[in-house]
Amino acid sequence: MRIKTNNTIGIKLNIDTSKSISKTQFDEIQKLLFKYKVVVIKKQQLTDEELLRFAHKFGTVFDANKAQVLGSKDGKTSEVVVVGNNAPEYEEAFLGHQEVLPHSDHQWVEEPSSISMLYAIDVSEGSAPTKWTDTTAVYNSLSDKLKIEISNKRIVTFNPFYRPFGEVSAKYVNRIEDIPPGEQVSHPLVRTHPYTKEKILYMHRAYEMEFENEPFKSGVKLWNTLNDCIDNSKFVYEHYWEKGDLVIWDNRATLHYRKPFDSHIRRVLKRVSIAGEKPF
Ligand SMILES: [Fe+2]
Repeated sequence: MRIKTNNTIGIKLNIDTSKSISKTQFDEIQKLLFKYKVVVIKKQQLTDEELLRFAHKFGTVFDANKAQVLGSKDGKTSEVVVVGNNAPEYEEAFLGHQEVLPHSDHQWVEEPSSISMLYAIDVSEGSAPTKWTDTTAVYNSLSDKLKIEISNKRIVTFNPFYRPFGEVSAKYVNRIEDIPPGEQVSHPLVRTHPYTKEKILYMHRAYEMEFENEPFKSGVKLWNTLNDCIDNSKFVYEHYWEKGDLVIWDNRATLHYRKPFDSHIRRVLKRVSIAGEKPF
């Protein structure tokens, strides 16, 4: 059963991902994922093994040991990362209760993840929803003039995990003042989805970035213009979590955002990310 949620982004599917899924069924799920960007599957009951078995259908798991990313740990990072607040039963749970600005996962590495999924283990009332923005729709909404202006530009991304957690916010880098630590990775500002061939505005919204070989003044201006387009986009899906929800998203063609919430509220999700390619 399919229930379309709104505009271009978000679709609910009624399936049991703990059961074996045929190739035809999987192809349909993947097709809908690339079309609607966010797939919501309610009332799942999954062990880590079952979650990974389902996730592996989309490809190999993103190797968090290749770079400093969420959950990185001495070359033996788990494929399942706990995103949790008040989750004492887990040795490590990340991201706490503070605001997480719009981003796509791993954008600051050479080969960012293609798809990510979150599975809700336990979510108390008052916990923050997650909001996704369709960045293909954002690109399509730009004026022809702006599309031409940005067509060959590249972004330089800086890995936020080299800064103390919570201290990095959306900032256009001014090299005269401060160059962020860690490696600098360059990606096209407009990337092409390898399956749908759609164009995507591939901006950092949450962290430090700059446009390659662009003077600071004009870079900031363009950065503000594009961020306004992202912030004002109507092509969003906001998900209020319930225990058992499995939400899968196209990490190439969306940004996701989480509001801050009360530090006493328990919120435990498990994330699996799928390996991706170098953006082109
Ligand atoms: Fe994320």
